[in-house]
Amino acid sequence: MKPLRVALLGCGTVGSEVVRLLHEQAADLTARVGAPLELAGVAVRRIDKARAHVTPDLLTTDAMSLVTREDVDIVVEVIGGIEPARSLLLAAMKAGKSVVTANKALLAEDGETIFGAAREYGADLYYEASVAGAIPLLRPLRESLVGDHVKRVIGIVNGTTNYILDQMDAHGASFIDALEEAQSLGYAEADPTADVEGFDAAAKAAILAQLAFHTPVTAADVHREGITEVTAADVAGAKAMDSVVKLLAICERVPDPDGGNGGRGVSVRVYPAMIPRSHPLASVREAYNAVFVEAESAGSLMFYGAGAGGAPTASAVLGDLVAVARNRVGGTRGPVEVTYAELPVLPMGET
Ligand code: NDP
Ligand code: HSE
Repeated sequence: MKPLRVALLGCGTVGSEVVRLLHEQAADLTARVGAPLELAGVAVRRIDKARAHVTPDLLTTDAMSLVTREDVDIVVEVIGGIEPARSLLLAAMKAGKSVVTANKALLAEDGETIFGAAREYGADLYYEASVAGAIPLLRPLRESLVGDHVKRVIGIVNGTTNYILDQMDAHGASFIDALEEAQSLGYAEADPTADVEGFDAAAKAAILAQLAFHTPVTAADVHREGITEVTAADVAGAKAMDSVVKLLAICERVPDPDGGNGGRGVSVRVYPAMIPRSHPLASVREAYNAVFVEAESAGSLMFYGAGAGGAPTASAVLGDLVAVARNRVGGTRGPVEVTYAELPVLPMGET
């Protein structure tokens, strides 16, 4: 069978693990897809840096030429940030490529443009790795629970801040030392302000709320508070009360007082909260994430696992890559994002 050619945009923490898995699991992936997956090129900033399993002829700094090349079938974007990622994904979809991305910042800031392009060009667009690392969470919301009525999504969705708070609680580590460790372990964003100020969790909350409630939600709609104001004394005080501090993301459908099924609006917020040590979220250690989904018919569901890091995130990217590759082999495509319930996003204090 003719190989499917993959353009990889970015070869950092996540991208380098995607390359490793493509290399080490080539035979299995071929069997699962029904065609070999072949790297067509890898776009990076620093062309002279050696990359394991990537021959120098595959490296380029011209990502735009790579994504529009005729011999490319699938584009995997793990650069991050808004530009050039947005222009690259739009060009890829316009050129008929299937797209996989881990870019929560872009999807939460300008999902309308990205999802709109997927609809307009009939492109396959998968983004499981954008929220909660390795945990299969978006596909259940997008596909398995799409027939249910989701009422609430609540949990820990940022590994870096959970790592910092856990190190402060369990080992008395300083905020800055714990942040540096999280960076060296590959958990933090390129600019860790996104993690510690809650922007990353807010982006993920917006993506979760949009999928759960079928209504447009952007990062700007999310009430956001990070953990930079959390002190060692706060963590110690919580400990003395047999509690822990966790950065929570809470997405809720606010009930309609008239009993309407859609709800009065949605509330999406991210903030540090003190929770009793007996609560299941209190036992989420290091860079793990956990998310509870409450739906009318399904009841309460819990999703737990590695929320950050190269290999766990690459696992989610590979899952999406196999999905879009299978779709190409079968001449089909995955779910198309539709938001139809124009629910207002309610400000704090109105919920
Ligand atoms: P890194 O900073 O480690 O890697 C970014 C990669 O993109 C590098 O290879 C860099 O090149 C390349 N790059 C940057 N700018 C450009 C450009 N203009 N053109 C071409 N290549 C460019 O990031 P991560 O791997 O950690 O994250 C990638 C994405 O995955 C982000 O969207 C992030 O939010 C998301 N993500 C990350 C997770 C994690 O745990 N790290 C978990 C879930 C999602 P060079 O190597 O030359 O510097
Ligand atoms: N910086 C992110 C985190 C990576 O710490 O959760 C995973 O999305």
